[in-house]
Amino acid sequence: MPSPLVEVRNVTKRYGALTVTRDVSFSLEAGEVLGILGPNGAGKTTLFNVISGDVAPESGHVLLSGVDVTKLRPHERCRRGIGRSYQIARPFGGLTVFENVLVAALFGAQSAGADANARAVDVLDLTGLRSKANRLAGGLTLLDRKRLEFARAMATDPKVLLLDEIAGGLTEHEAAEVVAVVRSIKERGIAVVWIEHVVHALVAVATRMLVLAAGAKLAEGDPKDVLASADVRRVYMGIEA
Ligand SMILES: Nc1ncnc2c1ncn2[C@@H]1O[C@H](COP(=O)(O)OP(=O)(O)OP(=O)(O)O)[C@@H](O)[C@H]1O
Ligand SMILES: [Mg+2]
Repeated sequence: MPSPLVEVRNVTKRYGALTVTRDVSFSLEAGEVLGILGPNGAGKTTLFNVISGDVAPESGHVLLSGVDVTKLRPHERCRRGIGRSYQIARPFGGLTVFENVLVAALFGAQSAGADANARAVDVLDLTGLRSKANRLAGGLTLLDRKRLEFARAMATDPKVLLLDEIAGGLTEHEAAEVVAVVRSIKERGIAVVWIEHVVHALVAVATRMLVLAAGAKLAEGDPKDVLASADVRRVYMGIEA
């Protein structure tokens, strides 16, 4: 059987005495959208940090197409196809939107010259930022900052895209726009893992859902089944079963 595109195998991460990721495993194929839900502090962002290489786990492995990348540094994983956005966007405020995306295309996707330009224009179109290409990133609205974070991650030409609360703080209409972009990325055959507290946005596009609680996997499966599960309703939504 071919290896899954991404495999997270028995990952455990501790900060001092605090275990923030407890033996978490899951796998993902191209074209899937895995939604990750969980209360604040459940370890969602930490899981992304382990996958992208921003932090090293105490134990466990991250594999990309069957190749163990656990020891690789973040930029090496990025070049192999692991792209991510950050919960707290940190664009180069003094550069334009276009320049921010171009930097990601040049250094993340390692494309050069006309290729990098074309890639930058493509992701600006994809994320609806083309008309703002020449604006300074530092002066963008919240929605446009989210779009830029999205565009920068896409510019690195990922096989798997990790999105950390890209719809947080947006209006319902704006969140629907983000869902539409995720859907078009999925249609390109890219795998997406999307952490989001906006449940209806996740449900609109996720093919599978995973719930984390206190660092451990509480549930995983079909989105409707996961949301209907008594454990999830109790822990995540604060509803007594
Ligand atoms: N660098 C760090 N040093 C120490 N503790 C950390 C560090 N990073 C995260 N933590 C702790 O690990 C736990 C999980 O944090 P994490 O950011 O992964 O949660 P999260 O599920 O993404 O939460 P949120 O929904 O608020 O974004 C929290 O208790 C947090 O305080
Ligand atoms: Mg987080």
